[in-house]
Amino acid sequence: MIRFDIFTVLPEVMSAYLDASILGRAQESGRILVEVHNIRDYAADRHRTTDDEPYGGGGGMIMKPEPVFTAVESVLTDKLQSTPIVLLTPQGRVFSHSIAQEMASHAHIALLCGRYEGVDERIRDHLATDEISIGDYVLTGGELPALVLIDAVSRLVPGVLGDAFASKQDSHAVGLLEHPHYTRPPEYRGWVVPPVLRSGDHAQVDLWRKKQSLLRTQARRPDLLGNANLSEEDQRLLTEALQEQGGKTDE
Ligand code: ADE
Repeated sequence: MIRFDIFTVLPEVMSAYLDASILGRAQESGRILVEVHNIRDYAADRHRTTDDEPYGGGGGMIMKPEPVFTAVESVLTDKLQSTPIVLLTPQGRVFSHSIAQEMASHAHIALLCGRYEGVDERIRDHLATDEISIGDYVLTGGELPALVLIDAVSRLVPGVLGDAFASKQDSHAVGLLEHPHYTRPPEYRGWVVPPVLRSGDHAQVDLWRKKQSLLRTQARRPDLLGNANLSEEDQRLLTEALQEQGGKTDE
């Protein structure tokens, strides 16, 4: 079981996603626990202010340190030293499958969602223990990134996905993109499902999938093949698949 504490000024946007489908069931079955905390509840002034103008001028508002420190310290109490406190920010290390695995090894994670133009640097320096970005683009806040992180980490928790095998087979878990999938009907608008998938020959199906996975990765994400540490067998399969494919491209 992993516990996530989310600190945000927009608590109301989190629950629709967290309570639905797989994450909803993961919460019901006690495999994950998600607590959402409103930073405004920890602001000391009458207006419950959580942002202020930047020293030195310039546009935009900055998240004040006091309500954030108070919120995190009040919730984590004696767990403050032992819990990773992750600030979601475009300046963080870029999230990946391996970072999700690293996070999944913790029993408890605190997630700080930045808003406005940024957070007071003292939050970075003296509260956050890690900074994560979900990619090189800028969102209006850290709420979606926190949901992305919780989603990716939760599906690695044993029992969260119905099929224990499923997350091990994923793209990225194996360092390759996934092969194509098909379901019924066998023909739709004249587009047919590859016959091998309906042949009942499991060895051939596995071979086809592996080759598709290799071809697709080569075509779309050749950078991943460098990290995939292809076995000699996979190298051979990729060469064979490329030959079979002839001049055709992936799509
Ligand atoms: N906050 C705003 N943009 C972000 C991003 N790309 N990743 C994480 N947090 C963010």
